[in-house]
Amino acid sequence: MSQSFEQRRGQKSVDEWASDVSLILDGNTNEGIRASAPGRVEFIGNHTDYNGGWVLGATIDRRVEVVLQRRSDRQIRLQSEAAVPPVEVPLGSVERQSGEWAWANYILGMVEVLQGEGMTIESGFDLRVGSTLPVGAGLSSSAALELASGAALSEAYGGEFLRRDLVRMAQRAENEFVGVPCGLLDQAVVALGGADRLVRLDARSEATAAVPFPPETGIWIFRTHQAHALSESGYQERHDEARAVRERLRELLGNEEAEYLVDVSPSQLEEVKRELSRTLYRRARHVVTEHRRTQRVVQLLKAGRRSAAGRLLFASHESSRVDYENSTEALDFVVDRLAEQEGVLGARLTGAGFGGAAMAWTRAGYGEEQAHEVAGAYADRFGTELETLACRPAPGLYVWA
Ligand code: GLA
Repeated sequence: MSQSFEQRRGQKSVDEWASDVSLILDGNTNEGIRASAPGRVEFIGNHTDYNGGWVLGATIDRRVEVVLQRRSDRQIRLQSEAAVPPVEVPLGSVERQSGEWAWANYILGMVEVLQGEGMTIESGFDLRVGSTLPVGAGLSSSAALELASGAALSEAYGGEFLRRDLVRMAQRAENEFVGVPCGLLDQAVVALGGADRLVRLDARSEATAAVPFPPETGIWIFRTHQAHALSESGYQERHDEARAVRERLRELLGNEEAEYLVDVSPSQLEEVKRELSRTLYRRARHVVTEHRRTQRVVQLLKAGRRSAAGRLLFASHESSRVDYENSTEALDFVVDRLAEQEGVLGARLTGAGFGGAAMAWTRAGYGEEQAHEVAGAYADRFGTELETLACRPAPGLYVWA
């Protein structure tokens, strides 16, 4: 058994964890190395991670599972329940895939990054993928696939990586191989989340901490089925705008004041407002205020002040809608309906935006009936289905040895 998962194994025995994480793929664990990683919901901290800010996220009980078997030749064969036929690539010439094979890039990216970190993958392998996590919903199926396959590869070929190393490697796979300039939120939450907690990431220092998930509250996801193609969407554009306004603020305020966008205080931003274009000013205002809202939510949760924390989730959505302009009419509609309902503490878009899903943080009494009310209103308005998922925080990345 490698040391990679010492943190997890120190807390619970393998059998205890296995009972928390039901098997998705058929077959018994002796057939190969099996690893499982959950999706995540962004609780608050929208687009703060690549700006050096705070983010708060939770794992959800929808997962990706992989089973890896070593081969005697040098062929990589990747098979997903959701996509046929398998993707076959020789180990010596791993290249970025496109079109219907693009899903394989999350695994192939990990192959490249793990080897770049000095791990020798001395044989080909078969890797099967199964999932209960919707793809393209903004719930980080990509990070889950990266981490599950990275953990299985590391276990199979003797990589002595810590969970934290895998988090950074998964981000690199996504940035450098897949080509999406994402921050660290998704990978950190997927790897470090747990059934009892929210994960707080300080993206500047990459430090994480667990914040107890408020008991007797739940998370609902409302998936709009609108195109959420992170790599082709406005994500890159927002990333570029954030960099541009940070550069401008450095000129105006000095490097020390604006090393990251979140270093600028709301009052400093107001002072130089006239020097910025309207668009860049609003992008900066979102990031600067969202970082502080996230810090405040952590304080409020620790103090048991749920209603106040929930109001900041609504404020976060408003800031994304007006200032970061990454919401959609459909997401706004869902959040507005949720705001009218009993039992909803807070609601907002979650993840990159530009489609995808909204989340609600709910009190114990909130259930199917209320969620269906929202879906019914959505169907009347848009003529399409709103998928509703009741979720709870779940075990993070896990490997069966
Ligand atoms: C996506 C990215 C994350 C983060 C969010 C927005 O989920 O992968 O790194 O930037 O969008 O907060």
